Amino acid sequence: MADHPPIEAYDSLDSTNAEARRRAEAGETGPVWITAALQTAGRGRRGRAWSTQRGNLAATLLTVTDAPAAEAAQLSFVAALAACDLADACLGAGAARLKWPNDVLIHGRKAVGILVESGARGDGRLWLAVGIGVNLAHAPEDVERPASAFADFMQGPPPQPVAALEVMAPAFERWRRAWVTQGFAPIAQAWTERAMGLGERCEARLPSRTLSGVAEGMDSDGALRLRLDDGGLERVTAGDVFFGGV
Ligand code: BTN
Repeated sequence: MADHPPIEAYDSLDSTNAEARRRAEAGETGPVWITAALQTAGRGRRGRAWSTQRGNLAATLLTVTDAPAAEAAQLSFVAALAACDLADACLGAGAARLKWPNDVLIHGRKAVGILVESGARGDGRLWLAVGIGVNLAHAPEDVERPASAFADFMQGPPPQPVAALEVMAPAFERWRRAWVTQGFAPIAQAWTERAMGLGERCEARLPSRTLSGVAEGMDSDGALRLRLDDGGLERVTAGDVFFGGV
């Protein structure tokens, strides 16, 4: 039996997340990985665009779940761990670090972005589109902070996108099974072991305000615990976090 859901590979799509949404809204349940060699309208977090080129991986897992939306969102950390495993396989163990909530950085520069979208189905379950963009060959230049690509740190060429997905999809499945059978605790622990910036000062840009303080760690539901300068504790559940220049 395959150790991951089937992979459907396209040459070009507007966005693999958009394709997953269209299929979900038409009633498809998956699980299926949708990948495209080229995305013409890649989507990023918080309404941003995700620009990518041929040679990079753009993939989305379409699936459904009985879990409530807040819990299902924890799959973004599952995705971050799977992408981290891919980075370990290509670059050596420990090369990649995770930045809350789910960016994967190599030598302090973002190389992977994750976007989870979801919606209600008629049967009461949720559909989920877990989108993962990996800069295998090229780092985009039109971004707020300098990004990186796996190729920048490899002696030989980076893997082809579908070959990379064939490594990442089983890793995703292993972490997903741990999450289903044991809950969020093993995911939070693995994430914490790979995290950057814990114990350090950071700026947290939330949807409506910006806070600064020390990133203390991840709560049992995935929120970031931020110790404010006045000693108060803020649980950050949405936003971007920046450590120094990163
Ligand atoms: C981020 O802003 O960091 C998230 C980027 C997510 C990009 C991936 S590429 C595959 C999938 N399809 C999309 O349109 N977006 C996600």
